[in-house]
Amino acid sequence: MICKYVFGSPIETGAVVAQIQESAEDLSWMELEKTKGGIRLSCRMEDSDVVYGLGEQMRGMNKRGFTYVSDALDDAIHTESRHSLYGGHNFLILSRREQSSFGIFVDDPGRVAFDVGETQMDRLEVTAGPDCVVYFIVGESVKDIAKQFRRMIGRSYIPPKWAFGYQQSRWGYINEADVREVVRRHHGQGIPLDAVYLDIDYMEDYKDFTVDKEKFPDLAGLAGEMKEEGVHLVPIIDAGVKIEEGYPVYEEGIEEGYFCKEEDGEAFVGAVWPGKVHFPDVLNSRAREWFGGKYRGLMEQGIDGFWNDMNEPAIFYSEKNLERVMDEILAMRGENLDLHAFFHMKDILLGLSNNPEDYRSFYHDLDGVKVRHDRVHNLYGFYMTRAAAEAFGRIAPDKRTLLFSRSSYIGMHRYGGIWTGDNMSWWSHLLLSVQQMPSLNLCGILYTGSDIGGFGGDATEDLLLRWLEFAIFTPLMRNHAALGTREQEVYQFSHVEAFRRIIRIRYGLLPYLYSEYMKAALEDELYFRPLAFDYPEDAHAVKVEDQLMVGESIMAAPVYVQNATGRYVYLPEDMLLVRMRSLKERTCEVMARGHHYVEMALDEVVFFVKKGHALPLAVLDDDLLSTADLEGAAYEWISFGDGPVEYVLYEDDGISKEYTPREDWKRMTVDGR
Ligand code: GLC
Repeated sequence: MICKYVFGSPIETGAVVAQIQESAEDLSWMELEKTKGGIRLSCRMEDSDVVYGLGEQMRGMNKRGFTYVSDALDDAIHTESRHSLYGGHNFLILSRREQSSFGIFVDDPGRVAFDVGETQMDRLEVTAGPDCVVYFIVGESVKDIAKQFRRMIGRSYIPPKWAFGYQQSRWGYINEADVREVVRRHHGQGIPLDAVYLDIDYMEDYKDFTVDKEKFPDLAGLAGEMKEEGVHLVPIIDAGVKIEEGYPVYEEGIEEGYFCKEEDGEAFVGAVWPGKVHFPDVLNSRAREWFGGKYRGLMEQGIDGFWNDMNEPAIFYSEKNLERVMDEILAMRGENLDLHAFFHMKDILLGLSNNPEDYRSFYHDLDGVKVRHDRVHNLYGFYMTRAAAEAFGRIAPDKRTLLFSRSSYIGMHRYGGIWTGDNMSWWSHLLLSVQQMPSLNLCGILYTGSDIGGFGGDATEDLLLRWLEFAIFTPLMRNHAALGTREQEVYQFSHVEAFRRIIRIRYGLLPYLYSEYMKAALEDELYFRPLAFDYPEDAHAVKVEDQLMVGESIMAAPVYVQNATGRYVYLPEDMLLVRMRSLKERTCEVMARGHHYVEMALDEVVFFVKKGHALPLAVLDDDLLSTADLEGAAYEWISFGDGPVEYVLYEDDGISKEYTPREDWKRMTVDGR
């Protein structure tokens, strides 16, 4: 059951697709208080209550004990005191033992705060509004609540199958030779690879939809050549459009009035990579169609995947604020700066980027309704991505195109995936990535993964090995790093053979992972789940924060601690431990329910199979180099049961939008013993 409550005059965000009538009854799940700025919803939490959801945020799967704020923010060096990350995902489930559990979705693209017991340990408090829609969902179980929510927000994005292959990225591949080298060094050493990313350097002076002809004289030729090798090129598109006379995107945008404007009607000037930019008003349908149409040029050169970036939107500084700050700082010259003056100087300098005042100083034209940016801040990445996806629907209607974004809001999950934004080469960020996965799935975002090895900072070989051992389960499996950091392509390290074996295990698991992804997308299910979703009655399972259910058969228990040679694992029932050094070197061992210390060597993939379940494993040729080579591969099975075990296999061509209907899914029966 879903109940809907409307406050003020909310705009249509596009998050919800189901038609839901406003509830006639009074809101009863939480106490409602109208405040000066909006609404406050609160309720008591019992000690045993657990809170799941909120998508891309810091901290654990159980969100209790902190305040999470939806206010899309660019921050690579996030630590546990960070209240906001790149997206705004306002859905949580309060899972309760004694009373009925419920889900709450706050459809408000402005700032929304979820105080999940930070101020008072036993209180959940949500502040939003003034204009918002709040939905309460009750159901038989947390799984059921999650499913009802997913039905309400519509089917998750489905990428092409090649996007489940291994992908390599780095800010710093600057020309054709760099791209060829990456492919040669992977494929030359038998390491499968399906995509190489083009970061901002492929553009001319960081101008969207341009290609630097000196560095990439023949992008179409290169894309074609790469495709022959089974490798797709995936260019980045940034939110800001460079202000430059003679640059068609800028000129058309100005002429048609497609950029976000200040109060006086002048286009707002921010600055990002190219220096001064305007932001396309993607919340306006005409501007959206125009901006989306610009992807065509690259698609005509054979590009079939994109990543949308800096779309919180991130602003290094605004023209106006920079002027003010410069004046203030120049006035301090020669002064004796005491504590207050010095810190003030630091604050105003640091406060230049992503400044809340800047976000309050420009407007969107929502097809006739003028809305100040901060009221809809969390929609920008969503609508930039929607612009692209709608254009792909016009340009290449029958094909799936890879698309993911940095910033997002619930609703965007229908148009593309996300990566979890800039992170660091830290062990804590590996764990964070594990914990973010089920929270994102709850919000509909299925195609996701983190920058493997970490974006900022220098990755060590052991970190990269452990990160990959987890990332073989994430739909998006991309190694990405920042300019100036240690090179972290797997061939830069000494144990290349170990990396090769691990990445090949991913390809071996692909029939299972793809099947589970597709079933989750087509049936509104969760691909990643906290253990408690499968074992709600198990008091230990509820407390596990570092293991995950992956699809119907697998439980993952990654190592995320440096120098650990294994870890404690909790098995909520008897399970089959699968230990793989390679696809060929595999041992299986039945383990009893309970706590175990399990050795996990640095170059091993270890996971667990649920009782009564099975998974297919593709038998790979030694020369498999990309998902294209998986075509026609035979399967072997890993299974665990007392007798015959059934597995439902989903298969399709991986590229068209004709998804296989349920009646045609293959019911396979294998011997579980
Ligand atoms: C942003 C992106 C990162 C990219 C960089 C340069 O920081 O999040 O992935 O490499 O910009 O484009």
